Amino acid sequence: ADDALVVFTPSGRRGRFPVGTPVLEAARALGVDIDSVCGGRGLCGRCQVDLCEGRFSKHGVESWPDHLTAKSPTEQAWETRRGPLRDGRRLSCSTQLLGDAVIDVPSSSQVHRQIVRKRAEVLDIELDPIVRLYYVEVQEPDMHVPASDLRRLKDALAYDWNLVELENDIRVVQQLQAALRQGGWGVTVAVYDDRRIIGVWSGFQEQIYGMAVDVGSTTIAAHLCNLQTGVVVASSGRMNPQIRFGEDLMSRVSYIMMNPGGELAMTRSVRDALNELTVELAAEADVHVDAILEATFVGNPIMQSLVFGINPVELGGAPFALATDEAIDGLWATEMDLVIHPSARVYGLPCIAGHVGADTAGMILSETPYLGEELMLLVDVGTNAEIVLGNRHRLLACSSPTGPAFEGAQISGGQRAASGAIERVRIDPLTLEPRYKVIGCEQWSDEAGFEEGVAPYGVTGICGSGIIEVIAEMYLAGIISQDGVVQGGLSSRSGRVVAEGRTFSYVLHRDDSRTLAITQNDIRAIQLAKAALYAGIRLLMEQFGTERVDRIRLAGAFGAHIDVKYAMILGLIPDCDLDYVTSAGNAAGTGARIALLSRKARREIEEVVRRVEKIETATEPRFQEHFVSAMAIPHKSDPFPLLRE
Ligand code: FES
Repeated sequence: ADDALVVFTPSGRRGRFPVGTPVLEAARALGVDIDSVCGGRGLCGRCQVDLCEGRFSKHGVESWPDHLTAKSPTEQAWETRRGPLRDGRRLSCSTQLLGDAVIDVPSSSQVHRQIVRKRAEVLDIELDPIVRLYYVEVQEPDMHVPASDLRRLKDALAYDWNLVELENDIRVVQQLQAALRQGGWGVTVAVYDDRRIIGVWSGFQEQIYGMAVDVGSTTIAAHLCNLQTGVVVASSGRMNPQIRFGEDLMSRVSYIMMNPGGELAMTRSVRDALNELTVELAAEADVHVDAILEATFVGNPIMQSLVFGINPVELGGAPFALATDEAIDGLWATEMDLVIHPSARVYGLPCIAGHVGADTAGMILSETPYLGEELMLLVDVGTNAEIVLGNRHRLLACSSPTGPAFEGAQISGGQRAASGAIERVRIDPLTLEPRYKVIGCEQWSDEAGFEEGVAPYGVTGICGSGIIEVIAEMYLAGIISQDGVVQGGLSSRSGRVVAEGRTFSYVLHRDDSRTLAITQNDIRAIQLAKAALYAGIRLLMEQFGTERVDRIRLAGAFGAHIDVKYAMILGLIPDCDLDYVTSAGNAAGTGARIALLSRKARREIEEVVRRVEKIETATEPRFQEHFVSAMAIPHKSDPFPLLRE
């Protein structure tokens, strides 16, 4: 009767312990995962548990004082500092078992099973950040025991936390004596990779953060994450200021070729933007920049090179040699002039090939095609399309020069996806009359009572997803042939089909200030882009030796906005059950976040990237053949049986 049976949920682990055993101790003994930063001193509040009903009691449900001790002074002190614990919540380190109990460990108290939420998508990752906090109380110095402050700190870390043979940064030594004395000999240290002390704070330090950054050629996007919970506390993005050196990647590389030292200016400008972004994120989350102790980066090979101060000129021409295909690991933030904690480290995911960057590695890490049997196709469409195909047996990757047409560039009425852009289109196959939806307006044009000559929405142009839909709908309505030629003969049937020089256009919208027509050139631009994309995919399928894929994931903004059915009608992507064609969101950025939160994930992607087979589209003769056949809609010869269904 002096024993209490305790069951922990959700793990289901159970055991008997003498009455009076602290709950945290019982959990430890059973191997139940409960977090603790302060080592059970009632300071961190990380070890909270929920007390469920005393299911084993003869009298049914019992309330907590019966099988746990009443709130201890330590818990009361914690509540005074931090506010009351939720009903039934206790600090497991400061509560003892008095009788049988079922105790639930909420996911926020588990070290290794954190559900990290982002929008609707739930990432279930094992939280294992490379930097962790440990609180210790260090022996006061003693004339008779000659041991330095640092020595005694390391002894305490070894004793309390089993961290042995730690190295340390010199900055830690510079700050240690003041920190120890201010904190009454209690300090929190940040330890990098279980082997090096990189920060010290007096007393109990609450939280540390990390930044996951996706450096795109147009925009830089960053997430600030709490390293202990994995939660994103702030996200933001801004234009990549390198744009002033050149709109696209190749013009930036030629700028460097023509202006020696230009790479330094570009590196400086992107780092300046990063620092502005950091300050903005920290302010938004009300976090000091010094509490940011780690940063991870993804980007295409040229962006990744410039961020890390590597001259990218070799990537500007054949044979497109990467400086390194290894991860950038353990670089000091100060070496990059970043304004985060001076001892913070930086990690860059590995690039795969000259055209296939760390952003693709991030996408692979986020989508994990390498874990399953299912044959997965990953596509990230930008100015180049990065394509990955494979499963746990083999992974192939290439990039394909799609150009910017899918983003609305090179299209006569094209614009970025913003208010006023047509994003959805339907065409009546009998009357050839269109209906459309404009970004910023909930209704379709006909529901809103649109009349020709009136511009109820202020139509400003057409965005990437709108272009895909209008051309696919034109094809379905018979306005364009399989070869993509606008059928001029229809001009007698519809005023929408109009001659323009020697070709014909389709007038999608007309008002007092503008006529938005889809021209033959627009259709050609999309055909070229989609043929390049499809040819790249087909090349990988051929090398893999397959005629079909099980699942298609479309990454990036394009993937998020496009209607996959239309992408398939046009033949951007191969035939696949539409239920298995979905958006992957910003998969590259998600990969950076995963690498930020998990050491294991870093080792995993480094290993996976080494075995990716790189296919070079530029030198592969079959690419040209696939490209020519893919100019037709949806394709000259490939059947699309699932699409037809
Ligand atoms: Fe830190 Fe319980 S372990 S408060």
